[in-house]
Amino acid sequence: MNILFLADVFGVPGRRAVEEHLTTLRERYDADLAIVNGENAADGAGADVVTLGNHTYRRSGIAPYLAVSERVIRPANSGAEAPGRGLAVVEARNGVRVAVLNVLGQLFLPTPVSPWEMIDELVDEARAAAPVVIVDFHAEATSEKVALATWLDGRVTAVIGTHTHIQTNDARILPGGTAAISDAGMTGPHDSVIGVKSELAIARMRMRLPVRFEPAEGDVRLEGVLVTCTETGRAEEIELVRVPA
Ligand SMILES: [Fe+2]
Repeated sequence: MNILFLADVFGVPGRRAVEEHLTTLRERYDADLAIVNGENAADGAGADVVTLGNHTYRRSGIAPYLAVSERVIRPANSGAEAPGRGLAVVEARNGVRVAVLNVLGQLFLPTPVSPWEMIDELVDEARAAAPVVIVDFHAEATSEKVALATWLDGRVTAVIGTHTHIQTNDARILPGGTAAISDAGMTGPHDSVIGVKSELAIARMRMRLPVRFEPAEGDVRLEGVLVTCTETGRAEEIELVRVPA
């Protein structure tokens, strides 16, 4: 079965690209399930599950929404009092149950709970609920992403890195049958500094001024991965998705 994952939908251009192209992409990749990381976009139209990230609670009004939503999940290690949940269990088109987990890295991010303290229990819970388990690891450092994927090898179907907006060239199947990539990229404007208008991002870095960021517009691409796995959750292939909008 095929699972399509679109990475970090950024701004209005990214959201529009998902709205316009996700249905076609699902057909092209014969996807049984579509997951979208939408931390920088309000919704993921046409996705079965939307995962979030470190910006989850920046948007006003999201807390009551997350408290009741079963398909929009925030990082599981957001702290005991944070509204929402970090695990979604859904049925794919082919009838197979799929668990999706969202977890934050702790390197260079203000993460409330270490992922290492909670990941084993969370994975056990996911595996009890579904044979196919997809982990969206929203983290800054490639070292931490490689470490978590290696730690989970053989216990989950895929560990897909998000957050940096730069698609990495390390998509692979680990020895235990887990698909992994350090970062699946960005669905949004690539003529930019990770989605932001280049001149604004550069001005903030050069002059240390509190420049207000705005999303760029040019070279919109949909990026992510396609994971092919057995119905028992063993990954067989991971392919880069990188298509112009
Ligand atoms: Fe992020």
